[in-house]
Amino acid sequence: MKAIRIHAFGGPENLQLDDIDKPVPGPGEVLIRNRAAGVNPIDWKTCSGGGASAFIESLPFCPGWEFAGTIESLGEGVTAFRAGEEVLGFVNFPKETGCYAEYLIAPADQIAHRPAALDPQSAAGLGLAGLTAWQALFEEGQLKPGQSVLVLAAAGGVGHLAVQLAKWKGAYVIGTASSGNKSFLQSLGCDDVIDYGRQQVENLIHDVDLIIDGVGGETAIRALACLTPQGRMVTLPSVTAAEVIAAGEAQGLNVSGIRARPDGQQLQELAKLASSGKVLLNLADSLPLSEAARAHQLSAKGHIRGKLVLTI
Ligand SMILES: NC(=O)c1ccc[n+]([C@@H]2O[C@H](COP(=O)([O-])OP(=O)(O)OC[C@H]3O[C@@H](n4cnc5c(N)ncnc54)[C@H](OP(=O)(O)O)[C@@H]3O)[C@@H](O)[C@H]2O)c1
Repeated sequence: MKAIRIHAFGGPENLQLDDIDKPVPGPGEVLIRNRAAGVNPIDWKTCSGGGASAFIESLPFCPGWEFAGTIESLGEGVTAFRAGEEVLGFVNFPKETGCYAEYLIAPADQIAHRPAALDPQSAAGLGLAGLTAWQALFEEGQLKPGQSVLVLAAAGGVGHLAVQLAKWKGAYVIGTASSGNKSFLQSLGCDDVIDYGRQQVENLIHDVDLIIDGVGGETAIRALACLTPQGRMVTLPSVTAAEVIAAGEAQGLNVSGIRARPDGQQLQELAKLASSGKVLLNLADSLPLSEAARAHQLSAKGHIRGKLVLTI
């Protein structure tokens, strides 16, 4: 089968299309014939030697942690799925999964049935960003109906799903983005959009209950001024999490980081919301697997609206 792999950590030029053996599912696992793989910042960060690279046991490494595909065969003991069923998944993170490939192995408890109304590309982009948004808002962030949420990087993969999930929960939602994304965010239900190129969010917004931070660093630290004294910030970029948490602690504020966790049941709920139109996965672009390097270049520029997907 064809798979995109790196043989040494480095930039997108290190991604190459290899011919490798099809994997075999073990107990509790399924073999997936892949249709599409989502692209996330963690993919290029890991390939360059950062991100989740500490969890990569050996090279070559095949990136990608989310997919949509068809079940080809079942490992021992799998009863919740049948061969031929359409599924989506966010799996094994942060260990190697290899979704940038024609076939992959997934634990059966980390995948979900793909509703017919949800196309494979949108389904492939849903898992990692969607479960990050879900867990940041509802688990770590403990969001309640009627509360207010500020989403930093609201037009990105995590952000645009966080905006919609927070609205679905009954929150008042403020998002930051560049001017070109204002109407996009309004169309998703965002109540207030701050153009970060013209205005400092900390000068305009006060007393929010929760901040979902998809930017990190100095931007996140300045945005702490937007919180109520009892509010929380969930900061997502792991590379700056320690400094943002320390800045929050110094002000007596509740700031924490998370690592998104695969969860088949949460993913099934997300897939239902996406198939019923309550949550829209905005597909920024869909590229062939062979153009994975270009996908990484585009993602690393930091201005994807929604999600990028590789079609297999
Ligand atoms: N901890 C975890 O488990 C976890 C999980 C997922 C993601 N993450 C991290 O969270 C971050 C966001 O992930 P993502 O997938 O949403 O990234 P993404 O899709 O690449 O984010 C792109 C978006 O960022 C926006 N943006 C860039 N600079 C901005 C700024 N200064 N202020 C506001 N918006 C800005 C862009 O909007 P404009 O084009 O309008 O500028 C663009 O829409 C990444 O660092 C990622 O690695 C962590």
